[in-house]
Amino acid sequence: MSSNFTIEEATFDDWKRVVDLCTETDRWSVNYDDFHVWKKAFGEDKARFLAAKASDGDVLGFVCTAKFDPNINTVGMYYVQPKYRGEGIGMQLCERIAQYTRVEGQNTYVNGISYMSEKYVSRKGLQNCANWKLSLLNINGGADTSKIAHLVGNVKVVNISDVDVAKIAAYDQSVAANIDRSKFVEAWLNHPAAWSKVALDGNGSVVGYGAARLVTLDRLLFGPLYANDKATAAALIKAILDHDTNLSARHIQFFSPSTNDDLLDLLELLSGGKCDDGGYLVSQFRGQQLPIDIKKVFAITEPALGFF
Ligand SMILES: CC(C)(COP(=O)(O)OP(=O)(O)OC[C@H]1O[C@@H](n2cnc3c(N)ncnc32)[C@H](O)[C@@H]1OP(=O)(O)O)[C@@H](O)C(=O)NCCC(=O)NCCS
Repeated sequence: MSSNFTIEEATFDDWKRVVDLCTETDRWSVNYDDFHVWKKAFGEDKARFLAAKASDGDVLGFVCTAKFDPNINTVGMYYVQPKYRGEGIGMQLCERIAQYTRVEGQNTYVNGISYMSEKYVSRKGLQNCANWKLSLLNINGGADTSKIAHLVGNVKVVNISDVDVAKIAAYDQSVAANIDRSKFVEAWLNHPAAWSKVALDGNGSVVGYGAARLVTLDRLLFGPLYANDKATAAALIKAILDHDTNLSARHIQFFSPSTNDDLLDLLELLSGGKCDDGGYLVSQFRGQQLPIDIKKVFAITEPALGFF
């Protein structure tokens, strides 16, 4: 089979097939609309989506990359159908994507699944790892937001339409190693399947923002969730879950830095002690670790093309 495929620029239909496949075989948390959100976040020239396709048009594998200015690229959604794994399709996808990522002076960031992490170190030179892991935390039996009401801080939580998006982007930049991600932030907060909120202090300054979006298998995935402190994070989580009566009953997920004990406390309270550990990703890269203000990160925006 491995000689019998081509690698092409992926269409939306290819992406939808990948969403169905990776949900069924690996329970990844994705949404058809992510494709359009990425296009808005990066524009046509700063992201590439590649599909390995059989002669009958079926999608055998997928990978994508994006570029953040000034010198960062990310690689994600690296996937091959189980029955075609181990035949070299993945490596060929990686070789092709390297045409975009192997650029002088650019650092590549990957949120690698735990069992692939060593291979990315030894075979791809992603030898540096963040000093935190990205834990996948699940609440499966419903969340009771009244259990965190006493922790909610003295902040005002509003809808994103009530705040100038430039103010949210400036807050993001202060967390995200001073990298301007304004288009990325705007695109993800306006994801068609997301509920998004902003926290303001008494002076109207942004002190946190967050969103949760519907993903496959009817799950609700939080991200981003950035906040100055636990009280602000509690306020955002509560406001988002209380926005719609159906939200807190869903299977809820967070990709959160393993160093964030405050989030763990909040999830233990919300779930009545039934927060479940769903494994972890390793944030790894070629160059320097970015000075991300990690204590303010309660959930990353998305693990595929965000660099945290
Ligand atoms: C990871 C995955 C995409 C690899 O695709 P594949 O077609 O099976 O890969 P290949 O046949 O080209 O790989 C040959 C070997 O190189 C390894 N390899 C594949 N891609 C690699 C990469 N980018 N870097 C380092 N090693 C890699 C494979 O694990 C395999 O290792 P082995 O010889 O020790 O068994 C595929 O196994 C998969 O879809 N896994 C489930 C989803 C997943 O975990 N994706 C990774 C998310 S970070």
